[in-house]
Amino acid sequence: MQPQPSFLLSREMIATPFKSHPVARFTGAAKIPGDKSMSHRAALLGGLAAGRTQITGLLRSQDVLHSLEAAAALGAHIEDDGDMVTVTGTGNGALLEPRAELQFGNSGTGCRLFMGLLGTYDFAATFIGDASLSSRPMGRVLEPLAQMGTQVVSQGEGGTLPVTIHGPRRAAPIEYRVPVPSAQVKSAVLLAALNTAGVTTVIEPVPTRDHSENMLAGFGTELEIERDKAGQTIIRLQGEGRLDGQPVTIPADPSSAAFAIAAALIVPDARVTIDNVMMNPSRIGLITTLMEMGADIEVSNERISGGEKIADLTVKHSMLKAIDVPGERAASMIDEYPILSVAAAFAEGETRMADVGELRVKESDRLDAVVKGLRANGVECCEGKDWLAVRGQPDGGNIGGGTVTTSLDHRIAMSFLIMGMAAKRPVAIDDGAPIATSFPDFVDLMNGLGADFRSTAV
Ligand code: S3P
Repeated sequence: MQPQPSFLLSREMIATPFKSHPVARFTGAAKIPGDKSMSHRAALLGGLAAGRTQITGLLRSQDVLHSLEAAAALGAHIEDDGDMVTVTGTGNGALLEPRAELQFGNSGTGCRLFMGLLGTYDFAATFIGDASLSSRPMGRVLEPLAQMGTQVVSQGEGGTLPVTIHGPRRAAPIEYRVPVPSAQVKSAVLLAALNTAGVTTVIEPVPTRDHSENMLAGFGTELEIERDKAGQTIIRLQGEGRLDGQPVTIPADPSSAAFAIAAALIVPDARVTIDNVMMNPSRIGLITTLMEMGADIEVSNERISGGEKIADLTVKHSMLKAIDVPGERAASMIDEYPILSVAAAFAEGETRMADVGELRVKESDRLDAVVKGLRANGVECCEGKDWLAVRGQPDGGNIGGGTVTTSLDHRIAMSFLIMGMAAKRPVAIDDGAPIATSFPDFVDLMNGLGADFRSTAV
């Protein structure tokens, strides 16, 4: 094992309850950390590509640290000067067999992407995670891998972690139609294809975030993307090509910015600016939705940085009106439904969200967690197998006073802390520790702008 920089040592999570008190002020510039999806991919592809990948704006959160640790366990060398993270990779096809189990903590993205990457290597690799990750479905990745020749040596009940796989001597290229709208599944197959001779084809009926495709192309992979008449995306990847280290610049994460945006909309007189937000069309469904609800969000200075569209946002307190959020938009805002539900709790009317069944297999069953959290705080709502409806109380009505179970889910924790900011009574969460998986500075940053989040740990 190579010596590792100290920031790579992931910390143990100790449950920390918090309370969010209503506030009268929320103003200033919110400095949102780097995009999590891009950070995972930069760590993974940096570890795979030959030579140095210098990453600016990498998210330093627990989830991403697990991906960096995995890259290191597969032979990458990682340095962090506090500003830029430099990953020196092995070269495509030359990853080392990991000497120990690969620990992914809470991270579905890290786990599924590395499972794809290693699925076509002729060695064994074992994937483990925390209680949340160990309850999430891995069959969606193992199934296409099996078609490519990967042997699933062992797995938990119903295709869960711990999983041990062993790749074939020579993997077979496949044509794979992604059965669920999942960028993780799409990416896993594309990454498996990197160590597979010939052309692997992935067909995506519903477009999902395209960071893997963008970054793979940036690292030199031969990749063809076509949109057919039926609106499907067809990606053809030529395997066994050369990947070369690249400078990567990571903009602010729109899924993290979502919390500051929602807070600014619901706290009276609030005004917040957020610079350098990634505006990739596959990620900004929430901004579209909030604008349709009457949100005052000004998008300025749109530009391209590091191959991604970015912009600066100014968000002001707004009177929101309920809408029906179309199911076709779900993939472009899949991580934002918990915070949208909180915003909807302060809107006039009933906000209905369709085709959101995938929320049941996130870090928690998010439909269940949102409904329980809203009800505990006096908000009326209903859920179906794949839909959710929230009845708002425009002036904050009688919202608050409850305690929310966060179930190891960072987005549930952050969403309900935001709710407390504009509620009539404080909102408590049983555990804020999972926030460190995606947004370690969340509490300090939000409190710096006027929020009143207090740890209630004894
Ligand atoms: C992600 C894809 C999404 C999303 C997750 C990040 C990614 O998951 O929920 O937070 O970076 O590819 P699915 O692919 O399961 O929809």
